[in-house]
Amino acid sequence: MARKKVTVVGAGNVGATTAQRIHGLGYADVVLVDVVEDLPQGKGLDMLESGPVLGSDAQIAGSNGYEATAGSDLAIVTAGIARRPGMSRDDLLLTNMKIIGDVTRSVVEHSPDCVLMVVTNPLDAMVQHAYEVSGFPRHQVFGMAGVLDTARFRTFIALELDVSVEDIQAVVLGSHGDDMVPLVRYTSVGGIPLTELLPDEKIEQLVQRTRQGGGEIVQLLKAGSAYYAPSAAVCQMAEAVLLDKKRILPCSVYLDGEYGIQGLYVGVPVKLGANGIEEIVQVDLTQAEKDALNLSANNVKELLEVMKNAA
Ligand code: APR
Repeated sequence: MARKKVTVVGAGNVGATTAQRIHGLGYADVVLVDVVEDLPQGKGLDMLESGPVLGSDAQIAGSNGYEATAGSDLAIVTAGIARRPGMSRDDLLLTNMKIIGDVTRSVVEHSPDCVLMVVTNPLDAMVQHAYEVSGFPRHQVFGMAGVLDTARFRTFIALELDVSVEDIQAVVLGSHGDDMVPLVRYTSVGGIPLTELLPDEKIEQLVQRTRQGGGEIVQLLKAGSAYYAPSAAVCQMAEAVLLDKKRILPCSVYLDGEYGIQGLYVGVPVKLGANGIEEIVQVDLTQAEKDALNLSANNVKELLEVMKNAA
């Protein structure tokens, strides 16, 4: 059986680590694209030369153009600028909007049937822009944020309880920003509700640390933003698509009335498989959770307004 084909646009920290992880899995060929001359070619060749050691026969090559990306099954967009200390994700808006528009047009032209995953921040607004530019149906365009946010929440819970990260299940809703909504009621440890294991104040501290998880890394790195955990999250979602796993994961998706939200990209749990978003999973929310989700969605709306005025 022919290997699947994945395009990764942006050969910076997130794109290169994502390409490395996918190439290492061995069952998908990767094309790494960047505007910087020779950079994706150099990183791609370096990764290809890791194949014999890793036992991966997958192909990987870099390119400054899109011809080599033709016929991709999955395209992952990480191109753009990253945050520096003092910047919010929203500060990246207009620069990254232009990049996402250009990249989406080129990807779609060469891979009209691909599933498109956006990683560039501010995430939900960037996916919405990619969706509008692509002309794709909504199930083919989604964003990575919730898997990363839940991974951070799960990490902090595991550290607090001194238990395996594998036993922790969590759901985070909303936009990928400081107003994200970790759903504590749906968070469990080996099937036991988190609320049975930790006092409310401690849970609230972990929720706050999760909300600011990206900023915590930016403060430490000083010259860029997180990429190890983000690329691991992208890779898990890529696997769900490439292997048609139908995983239930939180992703940024276009809501058309689901959760009472109309015409906006926001993070909610979905079923992710070969066709992209195969189902939007709706769970009951309390009034407080609904209010928090709406607040978070309003932030995306405000960014879209700014983008509309700048267009
Ligand atoms: N086409 C292709 N690549 C581009 C383009 C473009 N039009 N514009 C910029 N790039 C490339 C840059 O040359 C750079 O190599 O995108 C890459 C971005 O890499 P980094 O600066 O290392 O940023 P990174 O940490 O990878 O983050 C990328 O993902 O998580 C988000 O907030 C983060 O929006 C940021 C994005």
